[in-house]
Amino acid sequence: MRAVVPGSFDPITNGHLDVIRRARAIFDEVVVAVGANSSKTYLFEPAERLELVRAATADIDGVSVEPLAGLLVEFCRSQGAEAIVKGGRAGPDFDFEVSMARMNHSMTGVETVILPASAQWCFVSSTLVREIARLGGNAAPYVPDVVAARLAMRRPHD
Ligand code: PNS
Repeated sequence: MRAVVPGSFDPITNGHLDVIRRARAIFDEVVVAVGANSSKTYLFEPAERLELVRAATADIDGVSVEPLAGLLVEFCRSQGAEAIVKGGRAGPDFDFEVSMARMNHSMTGVETVILPASAQWCFVSSTLVREIARLGGNAAPYVPDVVAARLAMRRPHD
């Protein structure tokens, strides 16, 4: 069975990677869908977010990475995926994910599995990683090495 793990991944964090690995432990194939939430402004361009997700997941067997444009449910249909996997850290995440899960299910019948974030990473978010990087802090413990290197390159201008 194939599942889609969608997100904007700006940038991908160790928490995302943990969810992707755990999704792969449940499903035969995982497609990571790199999209955009229209209400957010991004640090990394779509092509760079895609590249970083590809680099960070390159060593995980059965995981592929594709850009997401348009509706997630249509992407799932086009990929032949029957399930969506999302991670949730705390209450508000789950509230939002449950309403999206219900809407997506209502549209095409696709199911959503919400994995509780591992305790090790439950305080890590892309938003906080961006904030640390912008203010000159060290975000390296919270992101894959390839992202830490990219953030270090960008630090002077952002
Ligand atoms: O990293 P994020 O912000 O949690 O990612 C959000 C994303 C890209 C997964 C979400 O915005 C999404 O599913 N976008 C696709 C458009 C869509 O299907 N919207 C309706 C959802 S009910």
